[in-house]
Amino acid sequence: MAEIRKVGVLGCGLMGSGIAQVSAQAGYDTVVREVDEAPLQKGLGSIEKRLARSVDKGKLDAGKKDEILGRLSGTTSLEDLADCDLVIEAVVEDLAIKNDMWRELDGLCGPDTIFASNTSSLTIADMAAATDRPGRMVGLHFFNPVPVMKLVEVVKTIATDAEVFDTAFDFARSLGKEPITCKDNSGFVVNLLLVPYMMDAIRAAEQGVASVEDIDKGMMLGTGYPMGPFTLLDFVGLDTTDKIGDIMFEEYKEKRYASPPLLKRMVSMGYYGRKSGMGFYDYSGDKPRVVDLGI
Ligand code: CAA
Repeated sequence: MAEIRKVGVLGCGLMGSGIAQVSAQAGYDTVVREVDEAPLQKGLGSIEKRLARSVDKGKLDAGKKDEILGRLSGTTSLEDLADCDLVIEAVVEDLAIKNDMWRELDGLCGPDTIFASNTSSLTIADMAAATDRPGRMVGLHFFNPVPVMKLVEVVKTIATDAEVFDTAFDFARSLGKEPITCKDNSGFVVNLLLVPYMMDAIRAAEQGVASVEDIDKGMMLGTGYPMGPFTLLDFVGLDTTDKIGDIMFEEYKEKRYASPPLLKRMVSMGYYGRKSGMGFYDYSGDKPRVVDLGI
């Protein structure tokens, strides 16, 4: 099996910064790449903050924190990922953008480098086909917040080499995660079931079944979920969920994956959820307050 020593992460947003953090925490030399300096510094800053919080809570040694940060570097250049054994992509959910990066990296990295995507809803095959290394492409799908959530979906396409899949599976385990094996269908396991649930929650509110707060309360207290569907939508990001819905609807042509009109309007208005400070809830005060959306 291939040995992973150096890991490259594409994207230092919500998911990429989490993946870079857990990779460096697990002892891998990790380089994370963003398109511009500003988002890169923001992402690296969020990692530092999370580690500092763990030190404050007594869950991480201060020396250990410095070691982790010492293994982590940031760049805006794809060339700095050329010597990575594994590259994990966590950029915006747009196939053309992802494939432009894969094509460039295909020419920069050695033939043995494994390419992995953290896509939520695209298929890995649609990325593998853009490269000259389809056998060395897998899915490694993490969950938000990455440092906390235990699951990684490890995805094999019809062309993934068995040895590459095993390496990716073991890598996920080495991060302290619980990997599961998934086929390369849009949404894998979790989003196949979770996306219709979140879309249905919006439709239920639109139909006046109950208020946003009561639907959230119902699902938390009635099923033991840690968050209700609207809190979760705001947490995942409404723009991200809308994109995922579009991609899954395009794939399956089933209404349950389609973004309800209200979600589309909220995204148009810049209501992206927690990351923009406003979604189904307003996050500008001490406590989230439900937003009056006229439903
Ligand atoms: N980043 C890092 N760590 C975080 C965090 C974050 N954003 N939010 C919370 N944590 C940590 C806290 O620091 C705390 O750590 P310690 O136990 O070490 O102190 C721990 O998580 C618990 O946090 P809290 O006590 O503050 O809050 P909580 O018990 O309510 O847990 C939660 C927070 C883990 C986010 C929990 O609410 C939860 O599990 N929510 C559901 C999340 C979920 O469903 N994620 C999947 C989304 S779908 C997805 O990601 C895939 C996709 O493709 C769309």
